Amino acid sequence: EKPVTVPQLAEAKEAGRKLAMLTAYDAGFARVFDAAGVDIVLVGDSLGMVVQGHDSTLPVSVDDMAYHVAAVSRGLRRALLLADLPFQADATPERALDASTRLLQAGAGMVKLEGAGAHKLAAIRFLCAREIPVCAHLGLTPQSVLRFGGYKVQGREAAAAEQLRADALAVAEAGAAMLVLECVPSALAAEITRASPIPTIGIGAGPHCDGQVLVLHDMLGLDSGHRRPKFVKDFLAGGGSVAGAARAYVAAVRDGSFPGPEHAYD
Ligand code: KIV
Ligand code: NA
Repeated sequence: EKPVTVPQLAEAKEAGRKLAMLTAYDAGFARVFDAAGVDIVLVGDSLGMVVQGHDSTLPVSVDDMAYHVAAVSRGLRRALLLADLPFQADATPERALDASTRLLQAGAGMVKLEGAGAHKLAAIRFLCAREIPVCAHLGLTPQSVLRFGGYKVQGREAAAAEQLRADALAVAEAGAAMLVLECVPSALAAEITRASPIPTIGIGAGPHCDGQVLVLHDMLGLDSGHRRPKFVKDFLAGGGSVAGAARAYVAAVRDGSFPGPEHAYD
């Protein structure tokens, strides 16, 4: 099977073909997810929480990311490898370029950064002009946890919803080729998805996005020690094995049966 490429992301949106994304942090899980047909494997800075045991993503370094990207890369044959720029690695365009170069040289095919403030848009433009594919991430951006005062649904008030609509268009205009929407009301995510020229990937953003993502530990029902958010579904319960869980997840994303109304915010 041919590898998933960045241009295929736009083709999938155009064709109405849903994209299935999961996080992984090592070669073993990457191999199983790849074989199960997962389109995009994300080495998320969520590794700070689910692998390292911190209570936020802020302690994750570029070195940490590069180590896990290299491991995941060795497990993949088909899936596109997306890697997060960790906290402050995108604070300036030059830092973002250095960090992204390391992650691409470790095996990533695209990098993701959170937010759409002026310097984030500058970083997106800077990277895209230097042949580095970028995925944006809006809504509940976990690197903003101190300003948010916790992990909360975003875009519920009219002004916040309007800002999110504008930000979604701005990241695409800056050159982003994909957009993760985290913890936003379903109706708003649906509106943004319709207006967006680039595919949207939802997590806690309802069923109308162009694709979905879950954290590996959440889709296997592992107890994180934190309250389980409502958008999480344990696919191991019905899947019987890790490979079965991954296949069930991919099938449910593709046919639109996940996420259901019980996994969405309004
Ligand atoms: O770090 C991560 O796992 C993420 C996803 C939840 C989108 O950014
Ligand atoms: Na992340």
